[in-house]
Amino acid sequence: MSQGENAQALKNGALIAFPTETVYGLGADASNEKAVARIYEVKGRPQDHPLILHIASMNDITYWATDVSDYAMALARSFWPGPMTLIFKRSDAAKDFVTGGQDTVGLRVPDHALALELLQECKKIGVHAIAAPSANKFGHVSPTTAAAVQEEIGTYLSAEDLILDGGAAQVGLESTIIDCTGDAPKILRPGAITQEMIEKATGMQVSGDIDANIRVSGSLEKHYAPNAQILLDVQASAGQGFIAPAEVATPSGAIRLVSPANTDEFARTLYSALRDGDAQGLKTIAVIQPSGDGLAIAIRDRLMRASKGR
Ligand code: TXA
Ligand code: MG
Repeated sequence: MSQGENAQALKNGALIAFPTETVYGLGADASNEKAVARIYEVKGRPQDHPLILHIASMNDITYWATDVSDYAMALARSFWPGPMTLIFKRSDAAKDFVTGGQDTVGLRVPDHALALELLQECKKIGVHAIAAPSANKFGHVSPTTAAAVQEEIGTYLSAEDLILDGGAAQVGLESTIIDCTGDAPKILRPGAITQEMIEKATGMQVSGDIDANIRVSGSLEKHYAPNAQILLDVQASAGQGFIAPAEVATPSGAIRLVSPANTDEFARTLYSALRDGDAQGLKTIAVIQPSGDGLAIAIRDRLMRASKGR
């Protein structure tokens, strides 16, 4: 089907899983309460968790948000389309059923040709945003391929729903979330748009200690988790899965799941490696984490959550 036809399906209330550069999303028309409710059903997600609204361009910010600051505009100009979600005070268009009852709204322009074409076709027929969480069951690992979406939620979709295939996600980790409702930008979830990039683009200092911000806003419940138990920064025993930078040798008898040569590759391959471990029925996966700043911070954030006890 063409993206024009897919946009029409969304408008008629279908759910469409679609590729982005970060992870695959499970989308619905952001103004359609029934369709949005089905996202929560399919994911098994609590109703008070807000959804990110995906928009075609920065021109659509003011449809959904108010009180947009200069630094937020600078961020949008610098990094959209891209792996960054901005949190604004919501407009009247952003209803409780997409914001989880909060008075703020999260917006993002994804950097993926297929997603952008779908968003542009949506706009032509009056669908101003696609509300979409990652297309996984609540608490699980986000899908980075169409096959992983099918495996996660395929059986919960209806006949009119669709899964679009846009290849493997280029970034592989969810977007950086930046709270833009205060005097200075505040990072709520680290991602490929790093603190350094934000400070350079805005000429401002990111507000607060990034680790503390993330602990307060992001819940500490187990999240981004495979079925296997994740152990951090220990050598794997025989029979256990092992994920580590390429330069770290595989312990004898361990099952190497991936050997990323750099941090970008670590991010891009991490979730598929965790899925692979589950597919092999592994009980435990040991991960040697990447060191350093930038995207490595986002990788360690997700691994910390994945390793939390249930
Ligand atoms: O890369 C991504 O962001 C992917 C792709 C599909 O765009 N989406 C994604 O969505 O990761 P989700 O729903 O799995 O995670 C979105 C996070 C949630 O933790 C949610 O609480 C937070 O964004 N969020 C959304 N709107 C918010 C708001 N108004 N205030 C604070 N946090 C918000
Ligand atoms: Mg998610």
